[in-house]
Amino acid sequence: MKVWDLLKHDHREVEQIFSQLDKTQDKQQQEKLFGKLKHELQLHTKVEETHFYPALKSADETKDMVGEALEEHGEVKKMLTRLSSLAVGGDTWREGIKELQSSVEHHVEEEENEIFPAAQKALDEAQVEEIGRKIEQEKQAAKAG
Ligand SMILES: [Fe+2]
Ligand SMILES: [Fe+2]
Repeated sequence: MKVWDLLKHDHREVEQIFSQLDKTQDKQQQEKLFGKLKHELQLHTKVEETHFYPALKSADETKDMVGEALEEHGEVKKMLTRLSSLAVGGDTWREGIKELQSSVEHHVEEEENEIFPAAQKALDEAQVEEIGRKIEQEKQAAKAG
């Protein structure tokens, strides 16, 4: 799979978890979904930070985009840590999930509409393939535990 499709696939997966979270009041279900969301977001930001963003940092066309994107990753991680300390299903937790969702949506929009198209121009075919391969490997390894 091309790196863009891989990363977009993760984005859709996360969106789906948010929408499932929005529909359920069942605490067990919420706990399960939140665990899944956390895992997906942590793994996704990690593979992007390890394999994707460093390549963008070394290309002139994209190097200025990296700082803001990584800051947004930092925000998402902070929100996840905070949410993990709250009672699942409570009002504060629900509000926190909504905040996290808008942060993630904003970031995903930026990646898909600005960063990926710019990266597509800046990186050559071999780089793109290499990044995709490394991300796939790391995700497989994570799945295998
Ligand atoms: Fe992403
Ligand atoms: Fe990202």
